[in-house]
Amino acid sequence: MIGKLNHVAIAVPDITKSSKTYEVMFKAEVSEIIEQHEHGVKIVFITLPNTKIELISPLDKNSPISNFLQRNPNGGIHHLCYEVESIDLAIQNLSGKGFKILGSGKPKLGGHGKPVIFLHPSDFNGTLIELQQE
Ligand code: CO
Repeated sequence: MIGKLNHVAIAVPDITKSSKTYEVMFKAEVSEIIEQHEHGVKIVFITLPNTKIELISPLDKNSPISNFLQRNPNGGIHHLCYEVESIDLAIQNLSGKGFKILGSGKPKLGGHGKPVIFLHPSDFNGTLIELQQE
């Protein structure tokens, strides 16, 4: 069911500063800052040859990232995103087996304009998992 690692997301307190670090120090391919109002975050994608890094920062105080940054003021790894062929099939399989899907349990459009869901860290050894349709 699970496909490629699409990205590793790192929560950061200052997205401009962190983005510049990757651009200047690592000479990485860095996107513009993208505001995702549906998710309450702003993101930057860093494209590596085999995967991407997603820097995420809160859009406002109600952002789901705000609590994380309160616990981890310097930032930290926030989630891993795996690709799946069909998000609907993934939802069906996982919720049928009692896995917890965050939010409404329905897919939202993620940073790549593709449907995504988030799975609760308690089912995955403390790691928040995002599934994105290929
Ligand atoms: Co993500």
